[in-house]
Amino acid sequence: MEKFRTIWTTEDRYVEVIDQRKLPHEFVVVKLETYDDAEEAIKDMIVRGAPLIGATAAFGIYLAVREMIEEQLEGSFLDQAFSDLRASRPTAVNLFWALDKMRAALDACEGDFLTCAWDAAKALVEEDVETCRLIGVHGLPLIEEISNKKKGEVVNILTHCNAGMLGCIEWGTITSPIYQAVQKGIKVHVWVDETRPRLQGANLTAYELTRHGVPHTLIVDNQGGHLMQHGMVDMCIVGTDRTTRNGDVANKIGTYLKALAAKDNQVPFYVALPSTTLDMTIRDGLKEIPIEQRNQDEVRYVSGKSKSTGKIEEILICPETTPASNYGFDVTPAHLVSGLITERGFCAASEEGLLSLFPEFKKKVT
Ligand code: MRU
Repeated sequence: MEKFRTIWTTEDRYVEVIDQRKLPHEFVVVKLETYDDAEEAIKDMIVRGAPLIGATAAFGIYLAVREMIEEQLEGSFLDQAFSDLRASRPTAVNLFWALDKMRAALDACEGDFLTCAWDAAKALVEEDVETCRLIGVHGLPLIEEISNKKKGEVVNILTHCNAGMLGCIEWGTITSPIYQAVQKGIKVHVWVDETRPRLQGANLTAYELTRHGVPHTLIVDNQGGHLMQHGMVDMCIVGTDRTTRNGDVANKIGTYLKALAAKDNQVPFYVALPSTTLDMTIRDGLKEIPIEQRNQDEVRYVSGKSKSTGKIEEILICPETTPASNYGFDVTPAHLVSGLITERGFCAASEEGLLSLFPEFKKKVT
């Protein structure tokens, strides 16, 4: 399987990422040299996906430490960097986890501050790679079981948004079991929801499945229900930006409707997540997870490669004055989730299930 990463460091110890706004038409690399660059990358969705947002924020703190030292700035500069990065996107809890981790590493630092920040950000990235690999190990049997039941026929998997390697560092969460199934010779086919308005499915999931040679078909967001009613989906797997102690799952807008359709058609609906996406301090996802609202022009316009000019263009799809609403995420209640696939194994979407795998969270509750 082809291996590439979504974030890496350069010889001069800066950071580079793929400009995901340009995929699948152009592969453009963006260099991050300041914490502002990292903040903008997260806000503008040059990078996106819960684990990658966290990794970019961690390197953002490293860059802030570097700026502070090189330009002899006050410690308040670093505090500002922490609070600006914290405010860059509200829903994915990995962002706050990564910043807390960087704060702890700097608080505990006994040697050179810059080296401590560098080492902590690098370690966080390596941890995500291994975590996602393990999610694949634990998710693979779910695909394998269906394949065995179907006597080796193609397993049809539906996914929403991009919870692939492009949302992480390597492997991805939902794609890790899929890539490992393909490596094992299991026949799979992925139904890729286009995922309006930012088209993470069409632009990103389809791109990485193509690069990895995984058979897939792009569908409009509303097609999944029909496919499920006609027995054309064996399982759904989605990612998450924040999962509560009770197993409620916030993910890209539209995930909830897929879960409802899956329940109605007895299609298993799995969520793949690293434990860094758990928010064990809250229980009720609907009441307690902040849902990002983004610019209405993301809905009013679509962006893509023009059929006639071959150029990337933005096209208005409604009357000039029509307003749009743009909630970025929704919450799928735990009772609609068939199970959680984590780096420690598979569990029920419930407090009991999560604590069976992560007993260290027993005390962490509001
Ligand atoms: O708005 P995005 O593109 O950051 O939303 C991403 C998702 O909803 C993903 O499914 C989620 O972050 C999991 S990525 C492994």
